[in-house]
Amino acid sequence: MKKILITGGAGFIGSHVVRLFVKKYPQYQIFNLDALTYAGNLENIVDIENEPNYTFIKGDIVDAPFIDALFAEHQFEGVLHLAAESHVDRSITDPLAFVRTNVIGTVNLLNAAKECWKDDFTDKLFYHVSTDEVYGTLGETGLFIETTSYDPNSPYSASKASSDHFVRAYGETYHLPYMISNCSNNYGPNQFPEKLIPLFIYNIVQEKSLPVYGDGKYTRDWLYVLDHAIAIDLALHKGKVGETYNIGGFNEWQNIELVKLLCKIMDEKLGRVPGTSEQLISYVKDRPGHDLRYAIDASKINKELGWKPSVTFEQGLERTVSWYLENQTWLNNITSGDYATYYEKQYN
Ligand code: NAD
Ligand code: DAU
Repeated sequence: MKKILITGGAGFIGSHVVRLFVKKYPQYQIFNLDALTYAGNLENIVDIENEPNYTFIKGDIVDAPFIDALFAEHQFEGVLHLAAESHVDRSITDPLAFVRTNVIGTVNLLNAAKECWKDDFTDKLFYHVSTDEVYGTLGETGLFIETTSYDPNSPYSASKASSDHFVRAYGETYHLPYMISNCSNNYGPNQFPEKLIPLFIYNIVQEKSLPVYGDGKYTRDWLYVLDHAIAIDLALHKGKVGETYNIGGFNEWQNIELVKLLCKIMDEKLGRVPGTSEQLISYVKDRPGHDLRYAIDASKINKELGWKPSVTFEQGLERTVSWYLENQTWLNNITSGDYATYYEKQYN
């Protein structure tokens, strides 16, 4: 593939994916399409904005005529689709925003790709980036595999599940070449501070309370964002068309244990007396429909493509904390404006 459209490349994971592709594949033309919602930030990719193989396009995937015209103009050969509304709490207060971007936006891209490629699907690929949340929740044991039934519980996961179904349906009905990967919780630099890890880093710096939902015993499987980007690159180039790959960190943590580890690292970094940040922990009202546990069995991508995480959780968390502490201007810019209104509504 030579001309690749990456959607959502100004967001958290998208910015790492765009950087990887722009740097690793100088022979490709990378087009980054992003609406620059509250979660999109061009500062995330400022270091590559002048690269000759990179073009940024501001636009909304919900706007079908715009998307059709974009495909007609550029004749993309591959789509790497990450643009989405991505925060579960926001999906609980505004489900329709998730239907618009995650479902309608995805179908608009599928339609445009189908129209553009219909005469020759050779060497074309629609790569859809999805989540482990489509599988619903696990109990105390077990792992999600690629054939686990879909059972989404939040408006966010229902919208992502729907988009996955549409991608598969376009494969079956129109023979559109596609691939899907479903990944566990990512963390790392540039994540918007609405998600657990960056939110808590920000609050610890500010000495604000750390709102742990429910009893804090919910479990997530954490993966360093660059390892997700590497897995996508590998699957896109070496994976089988029409397949799904689960991507995960082999790294389960109960929220409360993770928060305590984060507090310990932050106390060390900030030169605070050990135990200081833990005192900020505050148990608050639970998230409605809160999934108990996610955990990915990533053995398919491991065995078939040789992928495994390259960074341990301790290394990744240490790098992440350092990045946030060294980039407080980024954090301050992002938490000015609408962030305060969101925070007030969500936590008070
Ligand atoms: P994010 O919220 O940080 O970024 C989303 C990006 O999409 C932003 O740049 C935003 O401006 C853009 N966007 C939103 N609506 C758009 C629209 N209508 N048109 C064009 N651009 C739009 O999200 P993220 O955490 O980087 O997640 C990226 C993808 O990976 C999503 O599809 C998400 O479901 C999936 N995913 C995320 C995680 C995770 O832990 N964050 C895990 C697995 C899968
Ligand atoms: O599993 C993959 C998914 O991971 C992605 O598809 C989503 O885009 C991403 O947002 C993430 O979803 P989660 O809901 O698991 O992530 P979040 O960071 O919001 O929450 C992680 C856990 O921490 C979850 O059990 C809820 C809890 N939590 C979260 C926040 C924001 C708290 O206890 N307090 C909080 O303030």
